[in-house]
Amino acid sequence: MTNTPAQNSSLWQPVCHISELTEGETRGYDMFGTPLIVLKQKTDWRVYMNSCPHLGIRLEWQPHQFLDIDGHYIQCSSHGALFRPDNGVCISGPCVHQSLSTVEHKIEDQQLWVKLDQS
Ligand code: FES
Repeated sequence: MTNTPAQNSSLWQPVCHISELTEGETRGYDMFGTPLIVLKQKTDWRVYMNSCPHLGIRLEWQPHQFLDIDGHYIQCSSHGALFRPDNGVCISGPCVHQSLSTVEHKIEDQQLWVKLDQS
């Protein structure tokens, strides 16, 4: 099924119910052609564009698999860049000191919402 933004809707779009992710889990979502990485850490949610600052390609090697083997960092499967999950900053690899792009989000009505750039 192809999703398209509703006519006359706001830029905020629902991604998932908050119960869909467990503590420490990551998920990839494709929102109207915009690939996202969603992380749930304790009560915090992080949402990044699924685009590595090194080459601008997706990070995962399998669907929803974004973390390194220890589960401490987001890892790009192409060249191994490691990103801090709390702020998206690259701490190792070919794009060190660059960052994943953050996506504005909120929790409302038990749903994770993201604000998509529709310009
Ligand atoms: S494309 Fe991500 S580290 Fe090279």
